[in-house]
Amino acid sequence: MKKRVAILISGGGSNMVALVRDMDAGHPAEPVLVLSNNPDAGGLAKAADMGISTTVVDHRPFKGNRAGFEAELHSALVAANPDIICLAGFMRILTPDFIAKWEGKMLNIHPSILPLFTGLHTHQRSLEAGMAVHGCTVHSVTAELDGGPILGQAVIPVQSDDTPDNLAARLLPMEHRLYPAVLRKFASNDDTKVVLFS
Ligand code: GRF
Repeated sequence: MKKRVAILISGGGSNMVALVRDMDAGHPAEPVLVLSNNPDAGGLAKAADMGISTTVVDHRPFKGNRAGFEAELHSALVAANPDIICLAGFMRILTPDFIAKWEGKMLNIHPSILPLFTGLHTHQRSLEAGMAVHGCTVHSVTAELDGGPILGQAVIPVQSDDTPDNLAARLLPMEHRLYPAVLRKFASNDDTKVVLFS
């Protein structure tokens, strides 16, 4: 039986597309749901075009009632019965209570070489810090924001004329290589870390 994968997005879903495309016939997992908190997320149409079920759990009606949003999010996920949840450009902070319900099954991709630069604006902060390298990390999600066990990392050089936008653009293709490679191992219960260099 293939592992069932739910993918959570908030925007364009380029990482979701990379994950879905990699889950071929020989892959130990299959995509069963793409869920977004944003009804206007471009990734929803991409998922539907690839034949993947989609659903929206809009966070806005809950207006700060995080528990209410997470209760609906949890119900939608339970209905899909995933073995693995991939956060892929999912921009909502999840509470420790929610994470505890799925801990050990939830992965996230973060655009920095963790534990450096947790949180937002990682490309700008890397440049401001004068980093010679930048990268992305796939980690297991725990209650500590961007702090869970590292499952894989990809590294790119920082170029002297880099801006935050073009650094992000150069990193994205590496994200699209790293996340599928980590998911393939994770779904095979292979805990060796993935390391990629551009
Ligand atoms: C990516 O940079 C990812 O690292 C971050 O969200 C950005 C957009 O991802 N988590 P996607 O194109 O929506 O997958």
